[in-house]
Amino acid sequence: MDGTIKHALVIGAGTMGKGIAQWLAQSGVRATLCDLRGEVATSAHKDIELSWQKLVQKGKFTAEQVDAMGENLNAIALSDIDAENDAPDLIIEAIVESLEAKNKLFSELDQSMPEKTIFASNTSSIPIARLALAVSHKRRERFLGLHFFNPAPIMKLVEIIKGPGTKSELISHLYLWFQGKGKKPAICADSPGFIVNRVARNFYGEAFRVIKHEHPGKVKAVDEIMRSCGGFRMGPFELMDLIGIDINYDVTQSVWRDFFLDPRFAPHPLQRKMVESGRLGKKTKQGFYHHDD
Ligand code: NAI
Repeated sequence: MDGTIKHALVIGAGTMGKGIAQWLAQSGVRATLCDLRGEVATSAHKDIELSWQKLVQKGKFTAEQVDAMGENLNAIALSDIDAENDAPDLIIEAIVESLEAKNKLFSELDQSMPEKTIFASNTSSIPIARLALAVSHKRRERFLGLHFFNPAPIMKLVEIIKGPGTKSELISHLYLWFQGKGKKPAICADSPGFIVNRVARNFYGEAFRVIKHEHPGKVKAVDEIMRSCGGFRMGPFELMDLIGIDINYDVTQSVWRDFFLDPRFAPHPLQRKMVESGRLGKKTKQGFYHHDD
């Protein structure tokens, strides 16, 4: 099969899309980052450039390397995608965690993109089978899940999820492609939460059950204990602030529903309260902790 990936289109320039585009550009792949709102894509582009400048100061990259990475990256509005003259080899969708929004996007892209283009979703929890329904039978052979972790340029794991129609050769090809680019790919079944998000539900869920109500002292204590005694790099509340409490809540609800409301995966009222009050973590500067930068 022809699986050459020279140009990737990343759709959704939020936390994940920005990180994935950065990683691609750093790895020598031409990356086009786009968003429904063009100004979000432009601002994400600026953030990536700023992050590269900081990495030069830290000695991680040379100025020449950053120049080359910069050549690999551009940012546009979704409406400016040029499928006819500049079709990507791979599309990675990283928009909001909504089946409706993702399916609408995939169905439109299926009409405009050539047959060669591979479609991937970075969904945390929506079954790939359900997303693949938005595209033609032919495209389903080149439709799969590619689940990156936050921060995408740093985290090595990528879950590769095979949809019902995905060609096995494509899965093997991408497995080797990621390995060649320094990632640690893991091939997963299309089951709720895949591997990491399924196991992690209890990491968060039990932490909520321990603190029961909003209580900054207990939040801090649980995080400290999980770091110092549990050996985790971040505690559950710190990690939720990084991921986005809304995103985490959506994933919890989705995994819980897909396991037929099994109480092991049940969301917690405090999760909903945080989301409803707009305290979403780092991105809103306020979550379980206050974030100044
Ligand atoms: P986010 O809320 O930071 O960013 C989403 C972006 O998508 C926004 O900039 C929004 O303007 C844009 N968008 C929404 N609808 C769009 C459309 N129809 N077309 C183009 N752009 C659109 O979300 P985040 O955290 O980056 O998550 C994106 C996806 O990645 C979700 O499916 C999430 O479950 C998944 N994910 C998130 C992780 C995390 O740690 N935040 C980790 C792994 C996966």
